[in-house]
Amino acid sequence: MMLDTGFLERIAPYIEPLTDEGRAEYIAEGEESIKIREKEGLSPRDYLQLVENIGLYLGKTTGAGFDSHYQKIPLTKDKTLLVIQLPGGGNLNVFLTPEGKMILDTGYGCYYKDCERMLNAVGAGDFSDVKFVVCTHGDADHCGASGYFPVTPVMHPVTKELLESGTRGYASPNGREILEKFYTTTINTYSRMNIPETVRYCKTEPVRKHGLFPVIDEFEFAGMRFEVWASLGGHIAGQIFLYEPDEGLLFTSDALLNFATLTKARADYSSIADSMIGSVNVNSDIARTERRELMRITKELDDELKKSGRRLLICCGHGAVSILDEKGMLSPYSEPLYYSAGSC
Ligand SMILES: [Fe+2]
Ligand SMILES: [Fe+2]
Repeated sequence: MMLDTGFLERIAPYIEPLTDEGRAEYIAEGEESIKIREKEGLSPRDYLQLVENIGLYLGKTTGAGFDSHYQKIPLTKDKTLLVIQLPGGGNLNVFLTPEGKMILDTGYGCYYKDCERMLNAVGAGDFSDVKFVVCTHGDADHCGASGYFPVTPVMHPVTKELLESGTRGYASPNGREILEKFYTTTINTYSRMNIPETVRYCKTEPVRKHGLFPVIDEFEFAGMRFEVWASLGGHIAGQIFLYEPDEGLLFTSDALLNFATLTKARADYSSIADSMIGSVNVNSDIARTERRELMRITKELDDELKKSGRRLLICCGHGAVSILDEKGMLSPYSEPLYYSAGSC
């Protein structure tokens, strides 16, 4: 047995929400995963350290240890977009509007209270007036707090199925099923994922295409209209992108990241998933195609917007909101501000 007593004692607080049966299954899948990664060159000791590091990092970055970088982007008609880079995982996008708030991706469940405290500290109120929540995909860092909000979140039906299946590998056979499942249980449990029983589904029938991506729905909120694009499933099945043409906002979720803008601690934490599974993309070839296509589309949309003196803001799943620089590379749109819970 590689998951020895000492290790199990150390992770006991993190897996506390699991039932006895769930715990036994988790340990068995952990044992299997260690063997698979050992054959691929990662020692059991290093693998277990990665698992433990998730719990340690999440513990260290909640409460007084929570900090973030955020960009405050003025939109039209008294609206503002706050893009908050959480200490672990995906960005929390908060639209502040006269009609209440819209949330696009929620961050981990364990950061919910920290995020609300932060909103308060930066003069943006709390989550009580959230009227619309959208989750781009089923990874815990994007939908893990969705059950805490006062409205039913909207997601792709495949995302709901994926969440119910308990693995981010759902509907994406890639030969790494055990690794995907063990990582999913780890991250969903350690980060205290909270998904409501009932969710709302977006539509899924393609009405037209934007490049390679089928346009499957349109959301309206506070005078904004978001086209919903279906991804090709390279990162995870059921992922969607959102495009708001009037504000010039493209939300690429985890198909396009600005990794270079992450702090070292956040980049190190992000690399844990890659090291545990081998890749966070369930299909790396498709993920590459999506990235290339998104870069092509961003250039096209940006060129169009430039004609009226505007720019396309590329709101990546992780990292700073960016624009394309002269070389066509992602470059931060504005200097992110720093918030630390400890200094409040
Ligand atoms: Fe993510
Ligand atoms: Fe993701």
